[in-house]
Amino acid sequence: MSFETQLRTKTELVNNTLLQLLAKQSSIDNSLDAVLNYTLTAGGKRLRSALVLFCCELASGAINNDAKIAAAAIEMVHTYSLVHDDLPAMDNDDLRRGVATCHKKFDEPTAILAGDALLTLAFEILAGEISEPAIAVKLIKQLAISAGPAGMIAGQFADLKAEKTKGNIELLEYIHINKTAKMFQCAAVMGAICGGAKEKEIELLSEYGLKIGLGFQIADDILDISSSSEHLGKTAGKDVKSAKCTYPAVVGMDESKKLAKELADEAVAVLESFDSQADVLRQLVMALLKRTK
Ligand code: IPE
Ligand code: IPE
Ligand code: MG
Ligand code: MG
Ligand code: MG
Repeated sequence: MSFETQLRTKTELVNNTLLQLLAKQSSIDNSLDAVLNYTLTAGGKRLRSALVLFCCELASGAINNDAKIAAAAIEMVHTYSLVHDDLPAMDNDDLRRGVATCHKKFDEPTAILAGDALLTLAFEILAGEISEPAIAVKLIKQLAISAGPAGMIAGQFADLKAEKTKGNIELLEYIHINKTAKMFQCAAVMGAICGGAKEKEIELLSEYGLKIGLGFQIADDILDISSSSEHLGKTAGKDVKSAKCTYPAVVGMDESKKLAKELADEAVAVLESFDSQADVLRQLVMALLKRTK
């Protein structure tokens, strides 16, 4: 199966799981349910959730139900982070995943609450749908740490504070690792946990996730300059307009591309001890490096 087909299969699985989980939540207020549906079905790339599935498959040879739940949970947290990231008080964006941002389509209070709902729902499904309590606790802890005040929130906080400042490479690395790379790391670790991976494997996949995540955010900064809103499905050129502290702004475009390539090589090197079962993760590195959206 080609890498593209493998990724598409994973994306479809994540989409179906998300819809099933939402449909099961019979107690959600109808109009709020429509908002959650809007944000979750707008069609993101599902990369973090696919990574959960890939890592579970690598560790155990198959995708199990725990991995499907973990994938859906991380996708909910990621989607919440975008809904809030787009709010006027944060990046103030009108376009996301090719459609109007949540606060534009509905209103700001709705977008704030929809984000809160997605975040809490992610933990509810981990607590309620994972096969064994011990696995559920590990997954909940990992997601909370990665998305929380020592993870994604720390990065988002620093990102906003760094607007209109000169910035430097240390600060940039701090921002990008926290706001983005830790969620990729989290995805790899959650998948490995679901697949019953050994400690050493979890460690390596964690390192792999962190490296591709940092490379991913550098590419995001590059694409904000080099691509179009139509192609990205979100407003291009926003980082310069908001004077964001980005890799191209601080180290220049060529150096940014060089760093992204170095991280990709390092990520592949981390996988050295894995056999051909990990080829899909190697291909993922290359696909992320070449991505245009
Ligand atoms: C956007 O992530 C936010 C960043 C961390 C750059 P994605 O580019 O993965 O967004 P979707 O999920 O595909 O919309
Ligand atoms: C967002 O980074 C990272 C998140 C945690 C959501 P960006 O602000 O660069 O993401 P985009 O470009 O709006 O997708
Ligand atoms: Mg942002
Ligand atoms: Mg943004
Ligand atoms: Mg960006």
